[in-house]
Amino acid sequence: MPVRFQLNGVLIEEDDVSPSMTVLDYLREMKGLKGTKEGCAEGDCGACTIAIQSALGRVKSVNACLMLVPQLDGMSVTTVEGLSGPDEAIHPVQQAIVDHHAAQCGFCTPGFVMALHAFTQTGEALTYDSVHEAIAGNLCRCTGYRPIVDAAVSLGSKAEKLIPPAIEQTDYYTDGNEDFFAPRSLDQLVALKSEHPDAFILAGGTDLGMRASKDRQPYGQVISTANVMELNQIERDESSVMFGAAVNYTRALPMLEEIAPSFALLVRRIGSRQIRNLGTIGGNICNASPIGDTPPCLIALDAVMIAHGSSGRREISADDFFTDYRKTALGPDEILEAIRIPVPSPDLIFRAYKVSKRFDQDISAVVGAYALKIENGIVASVRIAFGGMAATPARAPACEAALMGRSWSMETAMVAGVALSEDFTPLTDFRASQDYRTRVASNLLQRLYLDTTQPDVPVEVMAL
Ligand SMILES: Cc1cc2nc3c(=O)[nH]c(=O)nc-3n(C[C@H](O)[C@H](O)[C@H](O)COP(=O)(O)OP(=O)(O)OC[C@H]3O[C@@H](n4cnc5c(N)ncnc54)[C@H](O)[C@@H]3O)c2cc1C
Ligand code: FES
Ligand code: FES
Repeated sequence: MPVRFQLNGVLIEEDDVSPSMTVLDYLREMKGLKGTKEGCAEGDCGACTIAIQSALGRVKSVNACLMLVPQLDGMSVTTVEGLSGPDEAIHPVQQAIVDHHAAQCGFCTPGFVMALHAFTQTGEALTYDSVHEAIAGNLCRCTGYRPIVDAAVSLGSKAEKLIPPAIEQTDYYTDGNEDFFAPRSLDQLVALKSEHPDAFILAGGTDLGMRASKDRQPYGQVISTANVMELNQIERDESSVMFGAAVNYTRALPMLEEIAPSFALLVRRIGSRQIRNLGTIGGNICNASPIGDTPPCLIALDAVMIAHGSSGRREISADDFFTDYRKTALGPDEILEAIRIPVPSPDLIFRAYKVSKRFDQDISAVVGAYALKIENGIVASVRIAFGGMAATPARAPACEAALMGRSWSMETAMVAGVALSEDFTPLTDFRASQDYRTRVASNLLQRLYLDTTQPDVPVEVMAL
């Protein structure tokens, strides 16, 4: 069956487009829609932002450069050319940009317009803070952000509500050379993984999409998790929350805010809104990068990964999941089904700190995650994990031992910080030197102490 989607209101059926073609190339080269720009081709600049809407009704901004054409199946897609109505009238977002002198060369402008258009559909209040967050994934080199933000804030409640499309989806697409499987159920997903152990498992594609956009390599066979019902669920009971592996960050955020606000704050700094609209916690885990942001949090929170293969389901603790540089404990026929996070008890202190060169849209140099209980001034339990300090995200046993049973004081925090050099010998790379990583990780223990005992002491630089 062809891939079917609505493009600027017109139903499209494609049956000979390569499944490895990016949406950006498709729009520009096959549809002549050149308003969607290519800047970085790696999700960093936002020039390629488009809006998509699934049958579930959510309109979201995404980076066309990271998406493959079959990921559009069943969606309504809007590019900047599709914003004006039939009378070609300028869209309110575009008018606001004009009114506030918010464009100069205009290269970035379609991306900003599309990010803001999608943002106005979320129903969130248009404040300076929320707008900053919504366009953190869009770069402008010449106008300066103030007029763009002013334009956005001026939009007020002009947003119209869009009706989601009802388009029949396919569970298999091929152009005759490559295969794109889009199973609907966990059983189908597991069977496909067994039949095609070398196929790429695709969730949001914000890591995997680089293969097409940057490396220009075909995939051959892809199995998408996006439509697998079981992998898209979020379930909570008294003791734990279960996130299906295909739940994207935007959907996961409200629940994370409920159970671990500091984890949610960290997730808000993962990439940009466009990245969080596609990227999943499952993809972050299975990518197994030593600088992925969620794994240290999951290890500190004692989460459990649910793996599923041809011989059934098994549980792997987050501690044991990362076996080597970019390697996981998943077997060749296994996929990650879900992540179970114990609901922190009210007396558990959980904090996650990300250190990167920029606040938004930047990969971490170091991530520290800390889960501890203090009883009568004494550290009664502690789990600490770091990213960016070793080949895998990992616990810090010497640091934990230096804290356990000690009084929770600045002195203890400093001793525990020094103990980290027994746990890790970090690398020097273009993000940070070994010395910087060692020192910053150690200093974060002092931040933890101040953060947990002296709420009035500022521990983070924030934009005012
Ligand atoms: C511009 C940009 C900014 C970014 N910023 C950050 C950041 O700040 N912090 C951060 O941690 N990461 C960041 N990333 C990386 C990426 O967004 C995250 O790792 C994201 O969580 C990946 O999820 P995904 O759904 O897109 O995974 P995909 O790209 O679809 O998959 C990633 C890997 O996981 C495998 N996989 C996915 N799901 C499963 C499954 N269910 N079972 C088995 N294997 C599976 C895939 O085969 C692939 O190997 C950024 C990426 C970009 C492009
Ligand atoms: S081209 Fe830069 S984000 Fe897609
Ligand atoms: S107006 Fe030139 S890059 Fe934004």
